[in-house]
Amino acid sequence: MEKACNSHRQPFLLLHLLPLPALANPAASPSQIISRFQQYLQINTTQPSPDYQTSTQFILSQAGSLSLESRAIEFVKNKPVVLLKWPGSDPFLPSVLLNSHTDVVSFEHSKWIHPPLGGYVDRRGDIFGRGSQDMKCVGMQYLEAIRRLKASGFRPKRSLYLSFVPDEEIGGNDGAKKLAYSDVFKDMNVEIVLDEGLPSLNENYRLFYAEKAPWWLVIKSNGAPGHGAKLYDNSAMENLFKSIESITRFRASQFDLLKSGLKSEGEVISVNMAFLKAGTPSPTGFVMNLQPSEAEAGFDIRVPPTADIESFEKRIAEEWAPASRNMTFEFKQKVTPHDDLGRPLVTATDSSNPWWILMEEAIKKANGKIGKPEIFSGATDARYFRQLGLPAIGFSPMANTPYLLHDHNEFLNKAEYLRGIEVYESIIKAYTSYIPPGRDGVSRDEL
Ligand SMILES: *[C@@H]1O[C@H](CO)[C@@H](O)[C@H](O)[C@H]1NC(C)=O
Ligand SMILES: *[C@@H]1O[C@H](CO)[C@@H](O)[C@H](O)[C@H]1NC(C)=O
Ligand SMILES: [Zn+2]
Repeated sequence: MEKACNSHRQPFLLLHLLPLPALANPAASPSQIISRFQQYLQINTTQPSPDYQTSTQFILSQAGSLSLESRAIEFVKNKPVVLLKWPGSDPFLPSVLLNSHTDVVSFEHSKWIHPPLGGYVDRRGDIFGRGSQDMKCVGMQYLEAIRRLKASGFRPKRSLYLSFVPDEEIGGNDGAKKLAYSDVFKDMNVEIVLDEGLPSLNENYRLFYAEKAPWWLVIKSNGAPGHGAKLYDNSAMENLFKSIESITRFRASQFDLLKSGLKSEGEVISVNMAFLKAGTPSPTGFVMNLQPSEAEAGFDIRVPPTADIESFEKRIAEEWAPASRNMTFEFKQKVTPHDDLGRPLVTATDSSNPWWILMEEAIKKANGKIGKPEIFSGATDARYFRQLGLPAIGFSPMANTPYLLHDHNEFLNKAEYLRGIEVYESIIKAYTSYIPPGRDGVSRDEL
């Protein structure tokens, strides 16, 4: 299962013994920091055939320069999970995991003003590249924050892990999911996971405590075929269109809640038609004087964990695809927004979850502002960790930034990127130093 196991132990011992101010260290100058980000952006980890070999080498060499322990684990052949560790001084405390995915989605080269694999920085300081927002930025920011903390002489109490996982953009089954359900992960004794978030146009960072579950629904109708000139009840088209009308009304009601501001994007059930398949093909298009006996439609539905799942399932079975109207339905994908015990898959955002509070405090300490906690509208690897019952927070430090994930001309401004490193510095400090109340040197002996 494990292909390589490299341990890079403190080749630069001096750095540890003599804490230097960050800027006195040439490796920590802004131009070096940006240059490392550019190098990562230039590695072609584009789906469907990402170059994981080069990205793995790059991350392992970064780990080496930081004296982190490192290993590349192939749970699935040629799909390495790169795991780095900064050991904490107290091995009894559970650890902290910072996750990021190494793959990126494809792009239309001709629609970009700068090459998508170039890492070009323009005069405004915008760094262009596929993955500059999603989420090579975050992976590198974790490393740069560690670089600064090491240079300042900081020592973590809890162990800090970084996972660089493959295949998030195609579902994460061979990446984060394998890691989450592995013995390696059990041995890591993780207590909190950070994963990706989204940019905001204003000055507030966005924090995500849950995500919507994708349900890909296909409904099929059957009906009596007949002459196209004849009016009769219960054709397949009529049966299907009754459902489509009902679905369209539901979609509008959810969209109205969003438009009126009563609910946020993460709180409504979104429904979008993905395809409509009907008609009898002919050499010139479709047969026009025949009412077909079958028709179908597909929908991409996203269900928040806070929704009433039972009544929504009932709606699908009774209103959208009722057997009484000769309809059937199936799910091409149906991710449950609940955990194994039937509880909504959400990370607590109140004082019951010290990690949430610590996160907010750490961001504020680094002069960051935070918006209202949100539900992520797409899917991320965080769900695999939440499924295990772990708290997982989605966060990418990108304020004042347009949403360009999966879009043309994806970029992140240099100043915003550098600020994000300071924010992670503050978070890592707070997280790896956190000792729960009542937990001290005395109680440790009782373990
Ligand atoms: C990057 O990888 C993709 C395959 O995932 C390939 O189609 C594309 O040509 C590659 N681009 C470059 C510049 O190597
Ligand atoms: C359902 O199909 C049956 C058999 O083809 C037909 O008799 C009936 O009228 C159909 N009902 C509806 C509502 O389409
Ligand atoms: Zn992503």
